[in-house]
Amino acid sequence: MSSSDGRRRVQIGIPRVDEYIQGGLHAGDFVLLEGGIGTGKTIFSSQFVCSAAQLYGEKSVFASFEEELPSLKRNMLRFGMDLGALEEKKMIRLVDLETLEGSGIGSNIETILHAVDEIGAKRLVVDSLTAFLSGAKEKFDYSFLMHLIYKTLKREGITTLMTLSRQMDGQKNESLEAFVADGVFSLENYNKNMEMKTRFMIKKLRGTDHSRRYHNVVFTSKGLEILPF
Ligand SMILES: Nc1ncnc2c1ncn2[C@@H]1O[C@H](COP(=O)(O)OP(=O)(O)OP(=O)(O)O)[C@@H](O)[C@H]1O
Ligand SMILES: [Mg+2]
Repeated sequence: MSSSDGRRRVQIGIPRVDEYIQGGLHAGDFVLLEGGIGTGKTIFSSQFVCSAAQLYGEKSVFASFEEELPSLKRNMLRFGMDLGALEEKKMIRLVDLETLEGSGIGSNIETILHAVDEIGAKRLVVDSLTAFLSGAKEKFDYSFLMHLIYKTLKREGITTLMTLSRQMDGQKNESLEAFVADGVFSLENYNKNMEMKTRFMIKKLRGTDHSRRYHNVVFTSKGLEILPF
């Protein structure tokens, strides 16, 4: 599938989401998935790489800073997503990265780009960007690195999803990464009749006439499902 300007569309593969964004992301898009704790960011990201492999035959790199790989695999297996099996089939490469103070954000970038190159990945997940950038000491490092990642991946046409941990305390989404990103998706927990619910919203997606409403999210045995209303 391609859009009106001829660019290839990359389906996310999570039930219904692609319908809300005219069929998919553009190849090479850089999308942020922001959300508070436990809103489903890691599940969403895993579905993005699993459906890439299973539905579209595309390879991905999944760089995890938040969860150690055994725990990530175990948790995603509960939703029928066998990251280990896909890794054995060389459809995904899982990368476990350090966020230790001064561990060198530059070397982490190198590790990621090397993994992408090595398997010929078309998609990249960084979970989470918040942890990834915690190693950046100066504001300068931070913006420099954002642009570096962005330019490199875009040039190669790698479609990238990075998660961002946000406190839902009314903080405005004006940070640098949101400006640099082609798209910003949001997952949010909220309270309804004394029950915690989750909702999804597409805040921005360049070049796309996207849904502008909140969509309810349900956790099923296969992961997240994003409902029409
Ligand atoms: N087996 C399950 N069945 C239904 N829902 C589940 C199951 N396991 C986890 N969940 C839900 O998924 C949430 C965790 O999803 P996920 O790890 O993707 O969130 P996250 O946004 O990445 O969290 P974190 O902020 O810890 O990184 C849990 O808080 C819970 O609500
Ligand atoms: Mg997570």
